[in-house]
Amino acid sequence: MKILVTGGAGYIGSHVVKQLLDKKNDIVIVDNLSTGFQKTINTLKKYALTKKVKLSFYKVDLSDSKKLEAVFAKEKVAGVIHFAASIVVSESVRDPLKYYENNTSNTINLLKACLKYNVNKFIFSSTAAVYGDLEPRYLPAKEDGPVHPMSPYGQSKLFNEKIIQDVAFVNPKFKYVILRYFNAVGASVDGLLGQSTANATHLIKIALETTLGKRKKMFINGTDYNTPDGTCIRDYIHVDDLASAHIKSLSYLNKNKGGVFNCGYSKGFSVREVIDMMKKVSDNDFKVEITKRREGDPTAVVSNNTKIISEMGWQPKYDLKIICETALAWERKI
Ligand code: UFG
Repeated sequence: MKILVTGGAGYIGSHVVKQLLDKKNDIVIVDNLSTGFQKTINTLKKYALTKKVKLSFYKVDLSDSKKLEAVFAKEKVAGVIHFAASIVVSESVRDPLKYYENNTSNTINLLKACLKYNVNKFIFSSTAAVYGDLEPRYLPAKEDGPVHPMSPYGQSKLFNEKIIQDVAFVNPKFKYVILRYFNAVGASVDGLLGQSTANATHLIKIALETTLGKRKKMFINGTDYNTPDGTCIRDYIHVDDLASAHIKSLSYLNKNKGGVFNCGYSKGFSVREVIDMMKKVSDNDFKVEITKRREGDPTAVVSNNTKIISEMGWQPKYDLKIICETALAWERKI
């Protein structure tokens, strides 16, 4: 198949492109390179050559409907995987319109192009941020359980989910998978790709920078949460496992109309546990201090992943140790 991937120059998008190339799909990447990298495109182009499949790249912003539709007219793709989005939760609180524009309006543009050019397979990157701070009785979070986004980021993604479902409802041929990602982390196991995002705020990235001496110390954002060690709990999923869920989603759409699926390990780790693992794999007891809570952090976000396992046959392969090891290898490389 020929698949159009928006945001393919970014962290998760690039890992998915690599797996699509492994499966001999031709790829069309649309990315405005606002947070993605030309060097990632170059790496993927070289990789595509070794797999003897085609990869084309268009530097296009999804707000530019004309240019976007020109890509659809030229490339005649069979499906779309839509990653391109703004993803910084705190920024979304400060600048909500950026998020509703870049995430929600631009998804509408993309859907319009799909309908116009008869592209009827759509896979969408949603997020665990749609759940918000769930009461313990709703954890692990289920797809049909309550959703209460705490930020414009989460809300913009939830709007998209609804829009995609409404489009599918009135267009009998249109099929979709919405994947709610939990905390995507790690780097490709073969060392080819990883997270290069500038000024990352994520726990694992900061722990990496600290253990490699790029920072003198790191901080735990609050130890007074209602969890066994007082720190927040998250469901960390290796980016290659997350990528394989997209491959499964494409096959799933051959026989199914669509659905919403959690993508996580159904297993939570506290901030302290993650830092301890990073200390262990890097063999370095780096300096950690405690600071106050970070605004807007839910206490615990853990997936129930039984739906994606039972309906798609997805099976994650990795764990927190491999997450930390691959992320460390990548950080050393860059
Ligand atoms: N944390 C620290 N110290 C740091 C960095 C993070 O204690 O230096 C803590 C955070 O306060 C939080 C936990 O580590 O309690 C995880 O924080 P991350 O920033 O790594 O990840 P989040 O759970 O906040 O958010 C991520 C993505 C979102 C996505 C969400 C899904 O950034 O886009 O996962 O669960 F929506």
